Amino acid sequence: MLRIVVLVSGGGTNLQAIIDSVAAGGITNTEIVGVISNNKTVKSLERAKNAGIPAVSVSPKDFENRDIFNDALLDAVNEFAPDLVVLAGFLVAIPPKMVAQYGNRIINIHPSLIPSFCGVGYYGLKVHERVLERGAKVTGATVHFVNEGMDEGPIISQKAVYVEEGDTPEILQRRVMEQAEWILLPKAIDDIANDRITVIDNKVVKNN
Ligand code: GRF
Repeated sequence: MLRIVVLVSGGGTNLQAIIDSVAAGGITNTEIVGVISNNKTVKSLERAKNAGIPAVSVSPKDFENRDIFNDALLDAVNEFAPDLVVLAGFLVAIPPKMVAQYGNRIINIHPSLIPSFCGVGYYGLKVHERVLERGAKVTGATVHFVNEGMDEGPIISQKAVYVEEGDTPEILQRRVMEQAEWILLPKAIDDIANDRITVIDNKVVKNN
C-alpha cells in the first residue's frame, strides 16, 4: 500500500481529484495518509477534513526565517512517514533537504507542457496569462518528479489542451484542470503505486 502525503496551497481541486479517484478505485494500492497546507484557511484543508484525512498547516509566517520553516515542513512530512510526496497546487519551494531525503519520491503537477511556460514566476493563473499573451495554440499539464531545480525533474506524463478563441486565463486554467491535471495526477499516482514506471538516466520509462 503506497502511503501518500499531499501538499497544497489553495483550492485543492487536484487534491479532490486524488481523493475521488482513490474512492472510485481509479487509484489503487494507495492510502492518503495526510495533507499539509502552507496556508491555514484554505478550501483544501476542508476537503481533507471532509474526507477524514489528517491535515495540518505549516505556514512560513509562523516561523522566524525560511530555514526554520523548511525544517518544520520536512518534519511535518516525515511525521506521516509517506512513500510518496504529492505537490498538488503547492506554491512553496521544496527545501533542498527534502529533495535529498525523498529523491524521486516527490511528484508535482504543473499547468503547462514543460519545458514551456515553467520555472521561476510560472505558477497558478500566471502560467495561463503567459500562454495567452504568447498566442500559443496548445497548452496542457505535466506531472514530473521534483529535483533541486524548478520544474526540471524527470517528466512522468503530459496531456495537451487546446487554447480556444476568447479564452481568459480563468477559462483556460479551468479547461487545463478538467482536461489534463485532474486526469494526469491520479494516473501518475496509480502508476507509481503499482510499480509501472522507473527513472533511468533522468528519464521516466515504463516497466514492461
Ligand atoms: C492549478 O493551476 C494547478 O495546476 C497549480 O495550482 C493551481 C491550483 O490547484 N499547480 P488546486 O486547485 O489547488 O489543486
